[in-house]
Amino acid sequence: MAVQQRPETGTSRRAFLRHVGVTGGAGAMFATMGALGLAPTAQAASREQAYSAPKSGDFTLTGRGAAKVVVVGGGIAGLATAYELGKAGYDCTVLEARDRTGGRNFTVRGGDSTVDLYGNRQTARFSQGQYLNAGPARLPQWMVTLDYCRELGVPVEVFTNTNADAYLYNESAGMTAPVRYRTAKADVYGYVAELLAKATDKGALDKELTASDQDRLMEFLKDFGDLGDKLTYKGGERRGYTTVPAATGTPGVLLGDVPSASDVFASGVGRYFSFEFGFDQAMLMFQPVGGMDQIPKALTRAIGAHKVRTGAVVSRITQTAGGVTVTYTQGGRTRAVEADYCVGALPPNMLARIPHNLGSGVQSALEAITPQSAGKIGLEYRSRWWELDHKIYGGITETDLDVTHIWHPSYGFHGERGVLVGYYNYDTDADAYAKLTPGEREKRAVAAGVKIYGDKYRTELASSFSHHWRQTPHLEAAWHDTPGGPDDPRYKPLNEPTGRVYFAGDWLSYTDAWQHGAFTSARRAVTKLHARVLSA
Ligand code: ALA
Repeated sequence: MAVQQRPETGTSRRAFLRHVGVTGGAGAMFATMGALGLAPTAQAASREQAYSAPKSGDFTLTGRGAAKVVVVGGGIAGLATAYELGKAGYDCTVLEARDRTGGRNFTVRGGDSTVDLYGNRQTARFSQGQYLNAGPARLPQWMVTLDYCRELGVPVEVFTNTNADAYLYNESAGMTAPVRYRTAKADVYGYVAELLAKATDKGALDKELTASDQDRLMEFLKDFGDLGDKLTYKGGERRGYTTVPAATGTPGVLLGDVPSASDVFASGVGRYFSFEFGFDQAMLMFQPVGGMDQIPKALTRAIGAHKVRTGAVVSRITQTAGGVTVTYTQGGRTRAVEADYCVGALPPNMLARIPHNLGSGVQSALEAITPQSAGKIGLEYRSRWWELDHKIYGGITETDLDVTHIWHPSYGFHGERGVLVGYYNYDTDADAYAKLTPGEREKRAVAAGVKIYGDKYRTELASSFSHHWRQTPHLEAAWHDTPGGPDDPRYKPLNEPTGRVYFAGDWLSYTDAWQHGAFTSARRAVTKLHARVLSA
């Protein structure tokens, strides 16, 4: 996973406008002004500056026409490639090895079946309306994925990524009961503010700050940490109540003893608070209504289902003098697609296994990018006891157990049933769970959850479904590690076309493990391919 701030759009606005004004005409200039907030069409965000979708009008007066393109892989990058090229009339064929499109965008509903590489077969028994987003499950507002939801008519709703009433539980620190996020935060922020305020008061920052800067800092710290007399933290309403305030006569009873600073730091709860500062994890976040796979379903419809061949396992990519031949097997038969261009939109670990004649540079670049593990288990419950008993509506409980994260569903509030994500873990934790049978995975995940939530975590359970990406046929990765980052020179054969073959995927972006990376990488490949076809 990589997180990098998008570069500032710091280059001269006028120079930029001049550039698009010259190459794109007045219409493009006006649209761009809109994107920059200078014209009334300002809805488009700054990220849109870089991309303009191919359109059939681009071929007017060029005497050229759209080409034939074979897209290897029907995940988000492959579908986005075919969708965008389709806007200009390109003749695209998408080859997808699995029986559904979407790749790692996979929503599990009742009746869905999988077989993992260890041979574990599962059929989900979730009830009507219940689902598990086994792959992507949350969308930050700034990501282009939301623009695709808007464009494709996929409704979205809020996904609760952080919740003051969710729990933190660090067993290794000796915790025997969970603490609410809000309580832990009040204590950590309170004591940190107290210590810094006292240090400032004693002159420890005299070299760093002027007297008036110190006054402002003190003012901030008193408010931030809810400090009382003598700059001490004593707890308060931020921590929560055992009896909440209500009508006259019920002022509320504050949560019991405030732990010492030493105990608070020893509990290690502070380690979870920076998560929500992350550029890609800060609230608000969103999810498609009814499951993340509404996105690939809408893309597939927009492309035209007849252009997407599922169950098509690619066995060879051959560059010829004037085109590309992609050989695949489908239903026991070997077939081939001849095209002018190819876009390889499979995970790199899968592409690396497909014989090709694209050279050793391509092969060693693909092999340098390594697959990573992650897994999830969906636990369906007969009642929404986390809402009823714990007053937790969505959000994530963080643990130091091998289940790592426990997600409360951000849909179906107050309904009868609900699906918790009983683990979302990575690396060795994910691999350890993957090695168990689905029944053993459930048992182990439930035992962990009981420590935090009590017996209902076991007694209310209706069914479970677990999914591990490293063990998923045709994908074999949750995401990838790209040493040196996607712009490292060794990946040039993937970032520049190799002959007539282009590559796209989240793994060729600064937002790997996000659909945004797949979409923007597809846009990049499409832009390069289209420019080439227009000028060929
Ligand atoms: N994008 C993935 C997540 O948010 C890694 O968990």
